[in-house]
Amino acid sequence: MSTTTAVLLPGAPVAEKILADVATRVAALRAQGVVPSLATILVGDDDASAGYIRIKQRQAAELGFESPHEHLPADTTQEALHAVIDRFNADPDVHGLLIQYPTPQHLDYDVALQRVDPDMDVDGMHPLNLGRLAAGMPGPLPCTPAGIEALLAHYEIPVSGREVVILGRGATLGRPLAMLLSQKRPTANAAVTVVHTGVADWPRYTQRADILIAAAGVPGIIQPEHVKPGATVIGGGVRYSGRRLLPDVDESCAEVAGAITPRVGGVGPTTVAMLFRNAVTAAERRFT
Ligand SMILES: NC(=O)c1ccc[n+]([C@@H]2O[C@H](COP(=O)([O-])OP(=O)(O)OC[C@H]3O[C@@H](n4cnc5c(N)ncnc54)[C@H](OP(=O)(O)O)[C@@H]3O)[C@@H](O)[C@H]2O)c1
Repeated sequence: MSTTTAVLLPGAPVAEKILADVATRVAALRAQGVVPSLATILVGDDDASAGYIRIKQRQAAELGFESPHEHLPADTTQEALHAVIDRFNADPDVHGLLIQYPTPQHLDYDVALQRVDPDMDVDGMHPLNLGRLAAGMPGPLPCTPAGIEALLAHYEIPVSGREVVILGRGATLGRPLAMLLSQKRPTANAAVTVVHTGVADWPRYTQRADILIAAAGVPGIIQPEHVKPGATVIGGGVRYSGRRLLPDVDESCAEVAGAITPRVGGVGPTTVAMLFRNAVTAAERRFT
């Protein structure tokens, strides 16, 4: 018999709300004669990456975006990739730009990302946008961290004044999330601690967290003994073994947590929703 007591926090209802708002904003732009456009670049023939791009394009079309796409061969040079980025950057009809990660090994993704016009960076990962986040200036927010803040707000989990512990200081998730949740805003404003491999006794910190966020990418690293009874647990870190998704948070944590994201369908849907929120905001910024 299952002893699960935690309330589940699926990302889908949060994403639906965000995407409904995006669709309304896209329609408003279209009513003014502006067609929001999110361009995508895929390099190589990785099946998973091609699948992710297809999903994003389908969703873009459903929301009313144009989505011009460039599929470059696996042996594309860095210069050729930059030329495509430059073309989209310069196109007045394109408002957002996404380079599907990862790119083939011979390419430097970070250098390519720095080539993207920061105001078109729908992933919110351009160094200038991470700098804006650090400085508290407006700009595209990194999608996974922004999605986690939205998820906590949607389920009315108080964050302000509470103790948040993040396991992982990676550039995609842990570090920007720490910046986001420590900002002075009602849905943030937390006491944030970030732990990592340099903190050998990290369970000492996670055990006192009101909100524990796993951002390590180490399957099963968070076990019930690392969780304070009744705490909220958000599983951000995942690894794939083939198509099988291996989350950082062991499912048995649901026996201790008060609320927890499901094994599948937690922060993934909110991440994608934030991408489109960044894209419509980029389009609005050009015309308002
Ligand atoms: N669901 C989504 O939509 C989504 C989106 C983006 C990212 N993610 C996932 O989020 C995770 C983090 O992404 P990232 O790019 O920020 O990762 P990253 O750069 O690889 O960072 C991982 C962090 O975890 C820490 N860590 C790893 N093993 C540890 C251990 N045994 N004990 C303590 N700390 C440990 C690392 O510590 P050190 O710094 O000391 O090495 C590092 O700070 C990944 O699993 C990624 O797949 C999910």
